[in-house]
Amino acid sequence: MVKFNKPMLKEGSLDGDVIVVTGGGSGLGKAMSTYFLELGAKVVISSRNIEKLKNTAKELEEKTGGKVLAVQCDVRHYDQVEAMLAATLKEFGKVDGLLNNAAGNFISPTERLSSNAFDTIIDIVLKGTKNCTLAFGKHWIDIKQKKATVLNIVTTYAWTGSAYVVPSATAKAGVLAMTRSLAVEWAKYGMRFNAIAPGPFPTKGAWDRLLPGDLKDKFDMKKKIPLRRVGEHQELANLAAYLMSDFSSYINGEVVTIDGGEWLQGAGEFNMLESVPQEMWDMLEMMIRSKKKK
Ligand code: HXC
Ligand code: NAP
Repeated sequence: MVKFNKPMLKEGSLDGDVIVVTGGGSGLGKAMSTYFLELGAKVVISSRNIEKLKNTAKELEEKTGGKVLAVQCDVRHYDQVEAMLAATLKEFGKVDGLLNNAAGNFISPTERLSSNAFDTIIDIVLKGTKNCTLAFGKHWIDIKQKKATVLNIVTTYAWTGSAYVVPSATAKAGVLAMTRSLAVEWAKYGMRFNAIAPGPFPTKGAWDRLLPGDLKDKFDMKKKIPLRRVGEHQELANLAAYLMSDFSSYINGEVVTIDGGEWLQGAGEFNMLESVPQEMWDMLEMMIRSKKKK
């Protein structure tokens, strides 16, 4: 029986926690928010589009029976992030977790980008994560909160880099550096910082911008992945909930890759030998062994 797309943690694992999810109205943010609610958390979902957020909040409340607050906030603006934090505290009286998930991205040859296009991605991903982290971190330090968790969504090209998504790769690399830096610096204030690096998890937001038109059919993402499948939203939600929960209390400064082995397949020097047919290996072995005899 397939189990990877089933909820993993026991009921009540996030009971009483208040978690803010940026970009929580759609895609992976929505999937992770759903699971946090199912595990007993109260969730604030925020992004630019308040209508979308309100619809999602209603849908998730009906589905899970949990409490969701929808707050409009463009993470590029520090004043809006402070207002989002204030709205969270007004509604729920506290906040325990921040999931920096909001992002912007599209494929483009870098030389085609205007300066503003490059800035737009850096501003959403890197500056947005910085804005939320700084506002929430200062708050937690000010009130001497004993325990708080920040989880950042990056991607595997945060460390490999990637052509055609250079602003996103640049920004996600910065987010990863921020995660590891603050994991050390702010541990003394009771905060933990971790990151998740997902490989391909189909969402409308990502696929419309990264695989538009027939690129979806031309580049079958599954072929790039040793496990020959894309990710299921629930398996990402399982990992995110674990890293948000007290069960991961001793994990700090880590980035967990969840990509079916995709980035390593692209990296290993001889991984291309996967395409050598089984029946050729006898001959290849013979050729190699014969060299020793001479
Ligand atoms: C070149 C482009 C462009 C394109 C926009 N621009 N799209 N340039 N090619 N396809 C330029 C614009 O002309 C403008 O520059 C600048 O970028 C800002 O564009 P706006 O449309 O004004 O920006 P805004 O309304 O803020 O929208 C931001 C956005 C948009 C990033 C462009 O796509 C968005 O809202 N995205 C949010 C959701 C998203 O991207 N989700 C995917 C995440 S997937 P000028 O110079 O003309 O002013 C992801 C996965 C990674 O991160 C890993 C996968 C495995
Ligand atoms: P998505 O649905 O497009 O999610 C992006 C979210 O960010 C949207 O809800 C969007 O909402 C919000 N957002 C964008 N700009 C914002 C801004 N300026 N301020 C506040 N919110 C903003 O795409 P997704 O695939 O779920 O991506 C979620 C996260 O996973 C991202 O960090 C992405 O980099 C990461 N990721 C995804 C994949 C994948 O395969 N899907 C792989 C690796 C990493 P509004 O438009 O309403 O603002």
